[in-house]
Amino acid sequence: MKTQVAIIGAGPSGLLLGQLLHNVGIDTVILERQAPDYVLSRIRAGVLEQGMVDLLRQAGVGQRMDAEGLVHGGFELAFDGRQVHIDLQALTGGKTVMIYGQTEVTRDLMAARQTAGAMTLYETSNVQPHDMKTDRPYLTFEKDGETCRLDCDYIAGCDGFHGVARQSIPSDSLKIFERVYPFGWLGILADTPPVHDELVYARHERGFALCSMRSATRTRYYLQVPAEEKVENWSDQRFWDELKSRLPETLANDLVTGPSIEKSIAPLRSFVVEPMQYGRMFLLGDAAHIVPPTGAKGLNLAASDVSTLFNILLKVYREGRTDLLEKYSEICLRRVWKAERFSWWMTSILHNFPDTDAFSQRITQTELAYFVGSEAGRKTIAENYVGLPYEAIE
Ligand code: APR
Ligand code: PHB
Repeated sequence: MKTQVAIIGAGPSGLLLGQLLHNVGIDTVILERQAPDYVLSRIRAGVLEQGMVDLLRQAGVGQRMDAEGLVHGGFELAFDGRQVHIDLQALTGGKTVMIYGQTEVTRDLMAARQTAGAMTLYETSNVQPHDMKTDRPYLTFEKDGETCRLDCDYIAGCDGFHGVARQSIPSDSLKIFERVYPFGWLGILADTPPVHDELVYARHERGFALCSMRSATRTRYYLQVPAEEKVENWSDQRFWDELKSRLPETLANDLVTGPSIEKSIAPLRSFVVEPMQYGRMFLLGDAAHIVPPTGAKGLNLAASDVSTLFNILLKVYREGRTDLLEKYSEICLRRVWKAERFSWWMTSILHNFPDTDAFSQRITQTELAYFVGSEAGRKTIAENYVGLPYEAIE
């Protein structure tokens, strides 16, 4: 088998890159380890920056998002018993975010790829990249018990944090930057109306809480829990009681509870690999970096990597600009590190860190109060939350 761009992983990174390339006549094959239903069963993020919204529209997959997504012009920060509105629109000259679940983005991209007739091989195992440092890289993999080979011009490693792409790069060619936080997020999904019409990020001495949503009838709530906590210890009742205890009183009184339809704990981690490429193999999305979810940046960073690689490959195939290939990593990393910083900062000011001394606690509390009390502070929160600009590829 032969293609121009071989993509490992059919998550949002791989599918979006595949769709953009297909639309400009560049051939792709995607190899995915799981079955489509499994990919669609994962509940992930739900806040899209303007840049990602535009990219999805450019890829021709924005119709359902535009019809069903919720445009949010702000969010709330709750702490010390009060609520402060961060007016994203006013603070950023009109920018907003779109509430639309990653699962739905993935569903739309899968449908578009199927309609386009582009090839995705699901349930492939033992995918291995080869000869990435030559101009004839290829992948080997197993499908239905047979060993296959896929020749290509370039490999896109879109296979998430545990994927094979990053792991197949010699470790002495990579530098890893990592921070693991001493807590996780316990999340639930429920068919209840949102407690507030915008997202609420709450700092509380019992721990952080987040009120999010997927639609006007489906909610997503999170609680900070110790890293070693087990989901079995959390009945729905215990979750709702704990959430109420961490919210300002008016919100707690308004909270509508109901049976959970999903409940899980995710660890919090910051992670970046440098560089994000090895010869003709490029790393995108979670394969290259992880952010704690507090800034809602994970999915959006995947989209900016996709935009960068897509625009480079377009110029490579159309204009012979192979000089741009070696710039991929540095261009991505500039934006990645800014989002890493913001996600780390949001995490630091909103969570309760065990074993922090009283002085540090007061400093963090004051940092939050200072930022929200100053227009300059609110502006820097807002411009990061709506998403920093994508770099032009020239
Ligand atoms: N071979 C083939 N496919 C693989 C392999 C492998 N060895 N390893 C992983 N995959 C697949 C996974 O099954 C998954 O479908 O790669 C896909 C990776 O998808 P995601 O983990 O969703 O990563 P990505 O596409 O980069 O999405 C961006 O940002 O913060 C997050 O929640 C956000 O998941 C989202 C991510
Ligand atoms: C979510 O809805 O899942 C969500 C929203 C905002 C975040 C993180 C997660 O910061």
